[in-house]
Amino acid sequence: MGTRFLPATKANPKEMLPIVDKPLIQYAAEEAIAAGMTELIFVTSSSKRAIEDHFDKNYEMETELEKRGKHALLSIVRDVVPAGVSCIYVRQPEALGLGHAVLCAKSVVGNESFAVILADDLIDSDSVSCLAQMAAVYENHGCSILGVEEVPLAETDKYGMVKATSFAGHAGATLLSKVDSIVEKPRPEAAPSNLAVVGRYILTPRIFELLEHTGRGAGGEIQLTDAIARLLLEQPVLAYRFLGKRYDCGDKLGYLQATVEHALRHPQLKDEFREYLRAILPSL
Ligand code: G1P
Repeated sequence: MGTRFLPATKANPKEMLPIVDKPLIQYAAEEAIAAGMTELIFVTSSSKRAIEDHFDKNYEMETELEKRGKHALLSIVRDVVPAGVSCIYVRQPEALGLGHAVLCAKSVVGNESFAVILADDLIDSDSVSCLAQMAAVYENHGCSILGVEEVPLAETDKYGMVKATSFAGHAGATLLSKVDSIVEKPRPEAAPSNLAVVGRYILTPRIFELLEHTGRGAGGEIQLTDAIARLLLEQPVLAYRFLGKRYDCGDKLGYLQATVEHALRHPQLKDEFREYLRAILPSL
């Protein structure tokens, strides 16, 4: 529900918060497309209609920009959804948790492996996007893969935490390990390690059947983590330490860090913004 950003998220979904000039959900869509996905399924709700509008055509704006000869802006607006990519919207009627949200997409996904991106985990990488790295691992191994990173022990109660053992036989063996167990938001003393699942998953369709039988877990919600714990008993699940930097944009500090660092890379903004930061730095 984005309560950490109230009142900004009272009438706007948290996924529409911009990092400089692009909403978080568009970074997520671009990452999925860069990984070769051509069907984007958005699990939304009655309070997240702005997401559907963002990926829809805006005739009025396009006509107006065209009339004024603003071609660069016109392509920014038009390129939100590139040719060949389709968007499908599924409503989650109640906020029953991430596991329930994923289950809402069952009939659209069908009997295929699929990827999940949580838009408030924004991940930058130098060349190959996080999900594209994971898709390459999937091509090799054909099983479920969780995007993970090490977090401070004090923060284990914010994440799904995994215990993983090293996995031989892969060129990137240091990045890849086999998940032995997973638990949702344990206290530090109960955490199996400091390896946290961040918002990137590739899952086999078996997860849907397991989710159908997953009761409410941590926080009274239907947890994807609990269904993954059951999946582990039947199929291998790999943990992948992606190459890249994650910003927790569900948190004000992480959001600000992402904003500053993206502004410092923004083609039209970076020089002036760097100057500005230099100017105010001595007074901090
Ligand atoms: C969700 C998942 C959690 C995962 C996290 C990553 O939690 O339930 O397992 O580690 O996303 O951001 P949320 O942040 O929605 O509380």
